Parts: sequence; C-alpha cells; structure tokens
Amino acid sequence: MHTKIAIFASGSGSNAENIINYFNNNSQISVALLLSNKADAYVLERTKLLGVPARVFSRADLNDSSAVFDYLKEFEIDFIVLAGFLMRVPDSITKAYVNRIVNIHPSLLPKFGGKGMFGLHVHEAVVAAAEPETGITIHYINERYDEGDIIFQATCPVLATDTASDVAAKVHDLEYQHFPRIIEKVIQSL
Ligand code: GRF
Repeated sequence: MHTKIAIFASGSGSNAENIINYFNNNSQISVALLLSNKADAYVLERTKLLGVPARVFSRADLNDSSAVFDYLKEFEIDFIVLAGFLMRVPDSITKAYVNRIVNIHPSLLPKFGGKGMFGLHVHEAVVAAAEPETGITIHYINERYDEGDIIFQATCPVLATDTASDVAAKVHDLEYQHFPRIIEKVIQSL
C-alpha cells in the first residue's frame, strides 16, 4: 500500500522541505499535502517550488468545522507529520489518526515542553538552565499535546558559550538527520 503523508507547518518549513526531499522518488511513501495555518508562512514558498499541494486554513477551519478534515479526505491522507506546527490538533483528527500522527519537539521531553515552549523559547530556556545537553524528541500525538508516547530522542551537547541560536542550529541538524528516517520507520511498522 502507498502511504500518503500530510505535513502541518506554521513557519519556515525547513523540516517540511527536508522530509519532502527524503521521500521524493519513494514508491511506498509520499508527501501529498502541506497544511498551514499561516498564509504568509515561508513553508508555502518552499512547497510551491517543490510542487507539493498546499492548503491554508484558519483556526475555525481546524476546530469548528470539518474543513481541515475534508482536506485530509480529499488527498487520501494516511499519516500526519507535525513539523513546527503551533496549534493544537483537535480530537476529531487525533481520534481518526491513532498512532498515525507524529510531532517533533526541539528538546528532550519531558524537559522544556508544554505551554510557551516553542521555537527559540525552548533553546533560551535550555541556555538559562545551563543544561549540559539538549536534543530532539519525536513523539506520537494524542489528545494531550506533548504527552504522546516518545518514539525517538537524540542529544547534542550545549556548551557554556552557546547562545540560544547556536543551540537551535545544533537541534535543527539533529532534526534533519533523524526525522525523515524515523517517520519512515513508524510508517513501515504500521
Ligand atoms: C523545529 O525546531 C521544530 O522542532 C519546532 O519548530 C521548528 C520548526 O522549524 N517544533 P522549521 O519550520 O522546520 O524550519
């Protein structure tokens, strides 16, 4: 069976691009749709160049109507990847995609997760706490946001001289290295 992925992204989308490229020419798995809640997100420029269909939706489309769910049906989506997506996925979607939604978080959960912990805030908190290491967590999404079962973690050192941006760069490297391959493994195990 061919597995079609939808990626949800709110921002730059460098992970989305990396995942799209990774599955390019894969006969079993493809990225069929990019969904964004931000009409001016840079990820939409990337998907245009890469030739991946994209749809923009509002908070109401996600939570109060079936608009987003309808896109998932229209594009026959089997699997969902959250890559820098800043909204909560409603229960209607988590219930329909049990074990089929994964998220990446740029810290070693449960550390530096939860409210307000997104983007550079995470890395600023890591630096402020003088953590000796940080990393990435790839986890399933269930109804309670950052609490889905952890699938994979990878670590990188934090030096005393590192700024939050330095940490962000190291964490992004880990994301590029591991996220597509872990997505592939999870899909193959379904
Ligand atoms: C990544 O660090 C991801 O872990 C986090 O948001 C960032 C998204 O970066 N949740 P990009 O949009 O993929 O470039």
